[in-house]
Order: sequence, then structure tokens, then C-alpha cells
Amino acid sequence: MKILSIETSCDETSIAIVEFKGAKTNPAIEVKSHIITSQEKLHAKFGGVVPNLAKREHQLNLPPILLQSLKEAKLYNVKLKNCGPRMTPWSHRRGQVLREKSELQLKIQNLEKILEREPELLKIFKKYILPINPPKIDAIAVTRGPGLEPALWVGINFAKALGYLWKKPVIPVNHMEGHIFSALIEPKKSKFEVRGTKHRIINLKYPAIALLVSGGHTELVYFKKLGKYKIIGETLDDAAGESFDKVARLLGLGYPGGPIISRLADKRSDEKIKIVLPRPMIHSKNFDFSFSGLKTAVLYKLEELKKNYPLKEIRSAVAREFENAAVEVLVKKTTRAAFAYKVKTVIMGGGVSANKKLRKELKNALEKETPGVNFFASNSKLSGDNALIISLPAFVTCKKIPPDKITADGNLRLT
Ligand code: KG4
Ligand code: ZN
Repeated sequence: MKILSIETSCDETSIAIVEFKGAKTNPAIEVKSHIITSQEKLHAKFGGVVPNLAKREHQLNLPPILLQSLKEAKLYNVKLKNCGPRMTPWSHRRGQVLREKSELQLKIQNLEKILEREPELLKIFKKYILPINPPKIDAIAVTRGPGLEPALWVGINFAKALGYLWKKPVIPVNHMEGHIFSALIEPKKSKFEVRGTKHRIINLKYPAIALLVSGGHTELVYFKKLGKYKIIGETLDDAAGESFDKVARLLGLGYPGGPIISRLADKRSDEKIKIVLPRPMIHSKNFDFSFSGLKTAVLYKLEELKKNYPLKEIRSAVAREFENAAVEVLVKKTTRAAFAYKVKTVIMGGGVSANKKLRKELKNALEKETPGVNFFASNSKLSGDNALIISLPAFVTCKKIPPDKITADGNLRLT
């Protein structure tokens, strides 16, 4: 089964074409193509993602990415017939020509309806997508939430238009389930290459918990099988990634803040400055998190320090202590949840799971506190938003739904 998947929930536009073979429980997968374009630079000027800008960018990006993706997967085929009446009207097959013409007009009318809220996309769609032959794929998967609704709608409407034009079913996917699956790709070779290589989905031991840490979410999810999840703890305010982004802004750094803070924290130039920040909710009995107080503590600490030091001298000490605090809370709560729920597997996904300190500390803590528990973190090439991770639940756990029933849901939850 070949699935073409589309991801537009935030500021990455991504399309993948993935072939699945074997049982749904642990299929072999071959990534035929995988393209991600990031709008990071565009949004960096504003210090965060601007929904309407993201929407417009997705509209402009999707058609060329689709064409590139089909070419990469060797599924690109320009239409030789049915893209319009090629015979002259005075041909003896005038009846057929007229039929083809009205079929084409009807197709265009319907596409105009499906894409009426995506005018930029519609223009490019008619010019470049309409003339190609339906590729040999079996389904189209698309993220339906959570995320920025204007951005989600572009992907969904694009999927619906393709589904209609190519007569393929559409499978809506929860973005957070994609982040769970991002940790489940077992590479065939020791060196992980996303494209062209064959992988298998790991056969997990249950029960399991997933720590999902991204720009919009921070949650602990319990499950005994893929597809049926229970959120056992989540952030009460800011997400972990969001707090990295906000602290980076306070330090006068760029967007996204996670990788910048992390790099800065590794610098050991200003050991003389000692900073202690709080570890919010680290001792609370539940598995919830809170990161907004930590950000506020950074703000106050900076105001105090700036009286005696120029900002550039204190940046890395603040970044380091902030990263330590955020990582410590995430590690403590996850380890405690793993113990309390007697799990056999812990997995971690989402943009923040690329953080090296978090990966190392969580692995060490689990080995120490819950020996024997398997730990799988998303490969850092797949920890951010991308379409490959959307194709996986589409094959394993999700169902096709009549396109007119598919809507964007910015607050979609796993339970
Ligand atoms: O999963 P993701 O790509 O998008 C969402 O679904 O939100 O996560 C993006 C978030 C951003 O907040 C970014 O700052 C954070 O992941 N991030 C990191 C690192 N790399 C990305 N946070 C901490 N350390 C990193 N190395
Ligand atoms: Zn994400």
C-alpha cells in the first residue's frame, strides 16, 4: 500500500510518499520520497509563527512539493489524455470532444468549490496538478489537528482536492499520534537515512508511555496498544518548546529558540555566574507540567543580572540553567510516570525531543529508576514536524473518512 501524506499543521510544509508491506502491527516501510520545507526564516522576523502567513506559504508550497515528491518517487506522469479536448471540434469525434470538455468543466467547478478558501492554491493547482495523471498511490493522509487551524485547512483542502481529482480515499491523522510514531521507526542500518531505505515499525512491549514535547504540546500519554491513548499528564500553561522559544526571545535570540538555547547552554565561558531557577511542579503528585512560571523566573533573573552584566555575558549561564530546569522536570515526571504505571516501554517524540541533554538524561534516569524498561526516542531527523510521521498512523491505526466529513481541529486531543 502506498500512502501520500501531507503535513501543514504549523510552519513546515511537508509531503511524503511511503510504501507499506506486511502486517499492520509491524509493517516494513519504504520511504519513496520525503520533502520538508520550513518557513522558519519567514516567521523569525516576528518571533513566532504568524497563522495567516503560514497559511499563504502552505498554499504556495504544496503544489511544487507535490510535483517534486511524485518525481522523486517515480510516480510523476503528465497526462496525455483527459486533460482537455485535444481533438479539433470539426473532428468526426465531435461528440466525444464535447463530453470531455464538459467533464473537464465539471471537474474544475468542483475543484473551485473544494479550494474556494485557498485562492492561491487553486490557481497553481489548475495549472500544474490538473494536467498530471493520477499517480499509483492507494490513499492520501493528512494532518487534521492539533495545530493552527488556517494552516491545517490548507493541507486538508489540498488532500480533498487530490482525493477528488485522483479518486483516492483520504485518511485524517492526529498530528500528536504522528509524533508518537516518529519514535517507532527501526532503521535497517546503523546509520539512519530517511529516504530510499527500508525500515520497520518497532514491535512495542506494553504498557507504554510517550512523552510528547513540541512547540504547542507537552503531554504524557499512556497506551496498551497503538491507536488507543490516554493523556495522564499535560502542561497547564506553556508547552516545553514554547518556553524555549520565549526564553530565547527574552535573551534577544532568534526563532525557534530550542536549538539556539541548547547550543548556547553548551558554552562554558561564564562559569562565574551562578543562577538558580525553579523546577515548577517537580514535586507535585500528578503528571502535569507548568512552564510559564519558569519563563517568568528567567525574566526577573535577567532584570536583576542586567544591572551588573551586559546581556551577552550572562546569556549562556541563563540558557544553561533554564535548559537544566526544563529537562529536570521533564525527566523526573516521565520517570515517575513510568514507575507508577509499571510500563515496559517509554518513547519520546516532538520537536523538543531533539534536545541532546533531554535524550541523555531521560535515558540515564530510566536505566537507573526503571531498569529493563525500553526507551525509544524519535530520530532527531524526524523529531520536528514532517509528513513521514503522518503516513505511519495512517497505515497502522487510522481510517479513511468521507472527505466532506473531514474538518480541521486546532485543539484535537489524543483521547
Ligand atoms: O514538533 P515541533 O517541530 O512543532 C510543533 O508541533 O510544535 O516542535 C517545535 C518546537 C519549537 O518550540 C522548538 O524550539 C523546539 O521544538 N525545539 C527544541 C529543540 N529543537 C526544536 N527545543 C529544545 N531543544 C532542541 N534541540
Ligand atoms: Zn509537532
